[in-house]
Amino acid sequence: MGFISVLTLSVLVSWTIGGVAAATYSVVDHGAKGDGQTDDTQAFTDTWNAVCSDAAAPTFQVPASKTFLLGQVLFQGPCQSNVHVEISGNILRPSGLWSGGVGSWIVFNNVNGLSIDSTGVIDCQGSAYWTCRNNHQCSDAPSALTVLNANGSRLSGLKLINSPSKHLIVGWSVGVTIDRINITAPGDSPNTDGVFILQSQHVSLSNSIMSTGDDCVAIGDGNLDVNVTQITCGPGHGISIGSLGRENSKAQVERIHVSDCSIFNATNGLRIKTWQGGSGYAKNISFESIDLATVDNPILIDQYYCPRKDCAVNQSTTLQVSNVRYNNIAGTTTAVTAINLNCSQSVTCTDITLQNINIQSAAPGGTVVANCSNAQGTVVGVVTPTVPCLN
Ligand SMILES: *[C@@H]1O[C@H](CO)[C@@H](O)[C@H](O)[C@H]1NC(C)=O
Ligand SMILES: *[C@@H]1O[C@H](CO)[C@@H](O)[C@H](O)[C@H]1NC(C)=O
Ligand SMILES: *[C@@H]1O[C@H](CO)[C@@H](O)[C@H](O)[C@H]1NC(C)=O
Ligand SMILES: *[C@@H]1O[C@H](CO)[C@@H](O)[C@H](O)[C@H]1NC(C)=O
Ligand SMILES: *[C@@H]1O[C@H](CO)[C@@H](O)[C@H](O)[C@H]1NC(C)=O
Ligand SMILES: *[C@@H]1O[C@H](CO)[C@@H](O)[C@H](O)[C@H]1NC(C)=O
Ligand SMILES: *[C@@H]1O[C@H](CO)[C@@H](O)[C@H](O)[C@H]1NC(C)=O
Ligand SMILES: *[C@@H]1O[C@H](CO)[C@@H](O)[C@H](O)[C@H]1NC(C)=O
Repeated sequence: MGFISVLTLSVLVSWTIGGVAAATYSVVDHGAKGDGQTDDTQAFTDTWNAVCSDAAAPTFQVPASKTFLLGQVLFQGPCQSNVHVEISGNILRPSGLWSGGVGSWIVFNNVNGLSIDSTGVIDCQGSAYWTCRNNHQCSDAPSALTVLNANGSRLSGLKLINSPSKHLIVGWSVGVTIDRINITAPGDSPNTDGVFILQSQHVSLSNSIMSTGDDCVAIGDGNLDVNVTQITCGPGHGISIGSLGRENSKAQVERIHVSDCSIFNATNGLRIKTWQGGSGYAKNISFESIDLATVDNPILIDQYYCPRKDCAVNQSTTLQVSNVRYNNIAGTTTAVTAINLNCSQSVTCTDITLQNINIQSAAPGGTVVANCSNAQGTVVGVVTPTVPCLN
């Protein structure tokens, strides 16, 4: 096939922008087989290179009714114009362990204006890593999809299953909309967080379903103005702010609003976790209209976060948690401590508001309590269990 005919095949005119034809580049036209067996990584890279150098808002297309076997791939920008990625087919990671470092399987970096629309399944086949980690033979595992330095981007419809580690990471980006994501991994798979957001501003995550072995949503350091709404989470470790302040680092997190979520069969519900040591703040945080069912720690501020239990406690510094509001939270817990505000002795939590909360024991006739240390704030309306430490 000559150069011209290959070009004709791969360029399907789909719409026009300012009189310039916007082209669709299918991975199949760049040699991808989509038979689930042949490694299609090179075809994806070649397609990306063509798309990224097209100045007229091109579309990168993964066509339907095929399954593409994809190795580790970096989709690097900047590109000549905003790129649209349309994933209609399925994408499969080879099931084994990697020989090199871990990193992330699929990375988009430096692609402002990226939009991804997916109806396919992105299957990360991570179980070999879970086994390896559970046997303490691997200390880390690759994340599935990572989007970095992508201002003004939009991720919609992604269905990610069975990541070796985190499923979706969004970082160093301003103005990101994430909508209708479906993430599924077994409840006992290690560190398979759903969505992890860090160092980003003006992010909205909505209408999504997550069943994982770790946090459904984790809001890390450096985030400003993140809204999380209409998330169904379970099993998993709930919706978390943190962990923050690890290894004495400085963290700054503010304006995080979580609303209209449902969390069930989870080890935690709404959690803020910070390490001892460190500095900075987590402030202006709200959790509103959340349903809980059989959650172990429904409302938890843990300023002594230390999963390996090997930390020095009561250090002289830690970051400050302030202006946190829990409003309209109801449901059941499997534990006795339904509300646990375990704040640092060195820097107390301030301006904590608990409003209209009704958490009951999941066990018939079971009682629940609230515990707090070093927390100040107010109770508004009816809060069950009662929180004696707040006014
Ligand atoms: C995204 O926007 C921020 C704030 O305007 C800017 O500092 C950053 O360089 C931008 N990132 C990219 C990849 O253009
Ligand atoms: C989400 O994905 C899981 C696993 O593939 C599937 O069982 C479930 O039906 C999906 N949910 C929606 C709303 O698509
Ligand atoms: C709760 O999660 C655990 C761990 O994933 C799972 O084994 C169990 O079946 C789940 N129970 C319900 C009621 O969903
Ligand atoms: C988040 O919600 C707040 C309050 O409704 C709103 O002011 C802000 O613009 C929203 N931010 C994003 C990124 O959607
Ligand atoms: C808290 O965040 C909201 C929206 O993100 C903002 O409108 C409000 O001014 C902030 N409040 C404080 C005390 O910073
Ligand atoms: C608070 O955290 C400390 C340190 O991890 C722990 O010893 C204590 O039991 C916690 N308090 C509650 C009520 O969970
Ligand atoms: C921190 O110090 C206080 C007061 O000395 C003590 O009551 C508390 O138990 C200590 N916390 C931990 C986690 O050791
Ligand atoms: C939690 O609070 C209950 C009831 O006030 C109390 O009996 C219990 O000792 C507290 N637990 C901890 C670890 O502080």
